[in-house]
Amino acid sequence: MNNNFLKEIEPGSIIGILGGGQLGRMTVEAASKLGYQCHVFCQSEEEPAAQISRKVTVASFEDQKSLESFASSIDIVTLEFENIPLDSVKFIESFVPVRPNSKILSIVQNRINEKKFISNLNIKTAPFIEVPEKSFLFEAAAQIGAPAVLKTASMGYDGKGQVLINKNTDLELAWEESGASPKTNGAILEGFISFKKEISVIAGRSTDGSVTSYVPVENFHVDHILDQTLAPANITHKQSIQAIEIAHQLIIELDVVGLLAVEMFINTGGDILVNEVAARPHNSGHWTIEACNISQFELLVRAICGLPLGSTERNSDARMKNLLGEEINRYHDFLTDPSAHVHFYGKSEAKSGRKMGHVNWLSPKSIK
Ligand SMILES: Nc1ncnc2c1ncn2[C@@H]1O[C@H](COP(=O)(O)OP(=O)(O)OP(=O)(O)O)[C@@H](O)[C@H]1O
Ligand SMILES: [Mg+2]
Repeated sequence: MNNNFLKEIEPGSIIGILGGGQLGRMTVEAASKLGYQCHVFCQSEEEPAAQISRKVTVASFEDQKSLESFASSIDIVTLEFENIPLDSVKFIESFVPVRPNSKILSIVQNRINEKKFISNLNIKTAPFIEVPEKSFLFEAAAQIGAPAVLKTASMGYDGKGQVLINKNTDLELAWEESGASPKTNGAILEGFISFKKEISVIAGRSTDGSVTSYVPVENFHVDHILDQTLAPANITHKQSIQAIEIAHQLIIELDVVGLLAVEMFINTGGDILVNEVAARPHNSGHWTIEACNISQFELLVRAICGLPLGSTERNSDARMKNLLGEEINRYHDFLTDPSAHVHFYGKSEAKSGRKMGHVNWLSPKSIK
């Protein structure tokens, strides 16, 4: 890596953010707290991050001219979602450092590359088989057995592009239902894990290689979408240490400068299996905004700018509840709750399952 790329990006510099969603919005807020300005590259001025960013470029990720003028106006780039065309990220990288970089994205954008990378490190995952095309699904299903989960290899989020496969499932239909295609790089078939708990760890890594992380948290999904997070997770001390070790190993091996969120299952035997990773802020880290001195968003800014990472220690325990779709209409309830820390993302349409905001509640710090 060019040494130039490792110099500190001082407060006052301009941070480019690819993507305009709520993760970008909260990154803009954290960047502004440290004296940075932001330039958001997204698809509409109405997007949550665009609403509050000093500069905004509204253009397609394929628009080279816009990418070039964006890249030449900023000091560093990060991203708030992973499904950005790899070639666009590589193009931006020829002008300005992107953290995390395109090499990391090429792994984490694709569930097959991601699972291979993780299992090559001898970290446990669900059993999986690559399914490049529909014709491979029959043999894969026979090998993995039922139940199993068919997932598009790329482009999935919030459980989209996933189909549960049972003994009697029509595999042809399941393939169609998943939406797998050459555009999604085919699919992956995973054995279904009857897990006891879902947990996650968010780690941060700076330009000098220093690594830190938040306590493991426990996640509760409704209809495949994160509904609530409890910090810390109700797991054993040994499991907590192991989960943190896995997250640190992955962020180092992937050579991430920025954040890595690691989603894990705890199976009935108490083993930890990695489900997936995200090289960006993560919904299960929103509790850090009020419960820690440094939120996950500030940690991202510190990491990509080469600043000291600071302390990720929590000051209190926390519960985070996502406001999904019409739940946002109860906003008066949350605003009148004296203990609620309320965050709304400024989205206009409360479509079903859409993440409209979240609420954090703090409680005294437990000994865990
Ligand atoms: N192999 C599996 N066995 C059991 N449950 C699974 C498996 N894979 C996924 N799930 C369930 O589906 C949820 C969503 O899956 P996953 O995290 O892989 O997809 P995603 O679309 O990227 O979701 P998100 O955006 O919420 O992280 C998981 O949190 C888990 O509850
Ligand atoms: Mg997930």
